[in-house]
Amino acid sequence: MSKVFLVTGGNKGIGKEIVKQLGLHGHTVYLGARNVEEGRNIAEAFEASGLDVRFVYIDLTDVNSQKEAADHIKSKSGLLDGLINNAGMINDFDLASSVSLESLRETFETNYFGTVMVTQNMLSLLRAGERKVIVNVSTGLGSMAMHGDPSWPFHGTNPLAYNSSKAALNMFTVLLAKELRAEGFRVNSVSPGWIATDLGGEQAPGTPEEGAAIAVECALEGNDSQTGLFRTTGGTIPW
Ligand SMILES: NC(=O)c1ccc[n+]([C@@H]2O[C@H](COP(=O)([O-])OP(=O)(O)OC[C@H]3O[C@@H](n4cnc5c(N)ncnc54)[C@H](OP(=O)(O)O)[C@@H]3O)[C@@H](O)[C@H]2O)c1
Repeated sequence: MSKVFLVTGGNKGIGKEIVKQLGLHGHTVYLGARNVEEGRNIAEAFEASGLDVRFVYIDLTDVNSQKEAADHIKSKSGLLDGLINNAGMINDFDLASSVSLESLRETFETNYFGTVMVTQNMLSLLRAGERKVIVNVSTGLGSMAMHGDPSWPFHGTNPLAYNSSKAALNMFTVLLAKELRAEGFRVNSVSPGWIATDLGGEQAPGTPEEGAAIAVECALEGNDSQTGLFRTTGGTIPW
């Protein structure tokens, strides 16, 4: 049966592919984007190809946009079955010894504060939904355990602002999963892998389709699936 999902940052990269794959499974997908023109055009192109994709304006740094998006979804669909917190950014690769306060603040504003606030603003819609899935798109770069392994291929990728914002996001996953477990929610962090997008860069080996796969898997699996995990395709990652 058709379900209702919201994907943030759905206008390009991994998010656009998550929107497409959920749409191809026959679900209604709200494509959240802060770029109105691009978001609307892409939603219309998906609609023209037969998918039920609807644009909704969401800026992670603008709480009002999130409340208005929730009101809009409530008036049109009445609920959400799943929220895929995909939107994210990286400002720079500055190291812990020198990164600016401004960069730290900007990065946390989107990747952490924004994601927490979008989730809070969508929670009543998710409580009304049947599936109760929340997927936080994180990264292996946010894993403290992986950074402790000198043989890890990304051991040398150390932008403090980005990595720590995703580590904070992972803690949000763990605590929200514990808090909402009794209500039947499944809240997980996922690592899409290193994917060729504007954020990942052209040299990345993975395609957006491959990057979207684990988020889509979490969104669509049965109601008995696990919660509070850090997942990637084929397994889990240590926090
Ligand atoms: N690519 C990788 O290798 C990789 C690896 C691990 C994790 N990730 C994660 O995967 C997610 C998607 O990244 P991507 O690779 O697909 O990057 P991308 O192509 O640059 O897409 C990022 C998306 O996030 C949106 N976004 C950024 N700031 C926003 C804000 N304040 N409000 C609303 N939307 C905002 C962007 O909107 P605009 O178009 O308006 O900028 C865009 O839609 C991110 O959370 C990223 O951290 C990516």
